[in-house]
Amino acid sequence: MLIPVQRWIWSDADRRVQKLLRFSETETDGGRDILRAAEVTSDPLLRRLYLEHAIDEFRHGVLFRHRAAALLKVSPCRSNPGFQGDWLTPGGHGLDDLQVDGESDSDMLAFLHLSEKAAASRFTVYRDVMQHDPPTRAVFEEILHDETFHMNYTLTQLARVEPKRHRRHLWRARLTRLWKVYLRLATGLAGILGSMLLAIQYFVLLPPFAWLAKRAARRELSGWTIVSPGASESLDRQY
Ligand SMILES: [Fe+2]
Ligand SMILES: [Fe+2]
Repeated sequence: MLIPVQRWIWSDADRRVQKLLRFSETETDGGRDILRAAEVTSDPLLRRLYLEHAIDEFRHGVLFRHRAAALLKVSPCRSNPGFQGDWLTPGGHGLDDLQVDGESDSDMLAFLHLSEKAAASRFTVYRDVMQHDPPTRAVFEEILHDETFHMNYTLTQLARVEPKRHRRHLWRARLTRLWKVYLRLATGLAGILGSMLLAIQYFVLLPPFAWLAKRAARRELSGWTIVSPGASESLDRQY
């Protein structure tokens, strides 16, 4: 349904560069987290797979950055990039939610499986709308191949680590993701409502006070004021 919107978002060369640079950061950060997962797991097979996975994510970061640099060489970016539509074109994984330390292998695998699945479906859309830019399309195509592998190996390993309860872990991870989406939406909505309330207060409540203050200022005598004799003798009050 959003494919025409995606096509429009990716059609602008400057926006494409900004997005590729941001995706590069997301992939590299994800790689760092998965590297940490390789350090903390006690399962030797998982450690090896996580290491390969982390190397893939770092490589994705480099691929995105190189493509952005190539686009920049052809046409330097405007100083003001304009509308980015980041919420419509999120980066691949959503691995920014990842809390590596303290996670069990099964929870980690369930989380990774869902993240990689989301990445694979997003990159499929981005690849499909990139007909006007074959080199960028090739980058998405190459990365998509890896993301599909990540999606599959995490599910296979989850079934190996938790043969009986792997579906339950997947459902729990799904609910956690949903909860985080809700929290993000609620935070965004709270921000919008807060800004609206402040704007209403500024334009509705503040003007009467400003008017009263101006009227009081007009009545105020300027310069020194002569105080009638005897009026300032009390030490309890000013006048
Ligand atoms: Fe990736
Ligand atoms: Fe991945």
